[in-house]
Amino acid sequence: MKRPLAQVVSTGRAIPAHVMTNHDFAAIGLETSHDWIVERTGIVERHIARDGETTCSLGSEASRIAMQRAGVHAGDVDAILLSTATPDRLLPATAVDIQAELGATRAAAFDLSAACSGWLYGLTVAEGMIASGSAETILVIASEKMSSIVDWTDRATCVLFGDGAGATVLKRSRHHKGILSSFMRSDGTLAELLYRPHGGATVPITEAVLMDRSHFVKMAGREVFKHAVRSMAEACDRALDAARLTGKDIDLLIPHQANVRIIEATAKHAGISMDKVYVNVDRYGNTSSASIPISLDEAFETGRIGEGATVLMVAFGAGFTWASTIVRF
Ligand code: ACO
Repeated sequence: MKRPLAQVVSTGRAIPAHVMTNHDFAAIGLETSHDWIVERTGIVERHIARDGETTCSLGSEASRIAMQRAGVHAGDVDAILLSTATPDRLLPATAVDIQAELGATRAAAFDLSAACSGWLYGLTVAEGMIASGSAETILVIASEKMSSIVDWTDRATCVLFGDGAGATVLKRSRHHKGILSSFMRSDGTLAELLYRPHGGATVPITEAVLMDRSHFVKMAGREVFKHAVRSMAEACDRALDAARLTGKDIDLLIPHQANVRIIEATAKHAGISMDKVYVNVDRYGNTSSASIPISLDEAFETGRIGEGATVLMVAFGAGFTWASTIVRF
């Protein structure tokens, strides 16, 4: 096992106050039911951004909490990495808006686009920056306003997602605690199974695009499901092998929260019993890359992660991308 180079020293989260339950879809004329959604996904409700809540505002709020817990001041931050699929503007990066909000004027700030795996990708990038000596204190944030890119008339996707943000402070590791292993992989040949067809540089937003709603998320749900189960299993194996651990050594598994059936399949493959798996997809739905840092923050708050705990985190998302990281706290 390698010597850990970087450690997650604090966490924070920001969740919009407005709750939308499965029953609320009836009010927008969507043909679905609470029972269908719970049975297929495990989702009961999700939080939806309102009243000026943005990817920047949620990310900044989560960051302030994480910084305060770490005793980090705005001037101490060397880099801000924001994972998001829902930047507030296409140019510049939303990370610089968060930088401005926080007053972290010394920092380098940029967005990272790897869909639901983005926060884990960010951890690995930040670990490399710490290892190279280019940064000492890094904010790794995931902030997502999925409600802004789903088609609220498409019942196959809009019931799945929610909004929220999680933030973490990364520093050089001490006392052999920190990131023990990481794994990242992508397969761009499968991009069109989960994507936003139009609205980018190739086919910008036009009246025709707006009419056929092709700027919203499209997903081949069944295919995504199969790939998610397979890839998250592979990611668990790879991170465990690299750290020379097995599922028995893991105190808590935090999987990306997309669907409780994918979570159960991942835990089963890794040999981790469900009492050691963090699940909050019932309360938040799929908050894309924010789901793991939100869960991590809740797990600390509720005492699910104690001193010396070994935590396996694993994600899968559009791209496809998949990733895993094991951290000893
Ligand atoms: N309410 C009621 N019926 C619905 C709904 C809904 N919200 N959505 C779809 N249906 C219907 C379909 O129209 C279909 O009806 P039909 O048989 O008459 O054609 C039927 O339900 C079955 O549809 P499927 O898509 O085959 O249902 P499935 O069992 O595959 O469940 C689901 C769909 C929940 C989307 C599942 O495929 C899934 O979870 N896939 C993975 C999605 C995911 O996790 N994405 C995120 C990972 S990546 C990331 O996080 C960005």
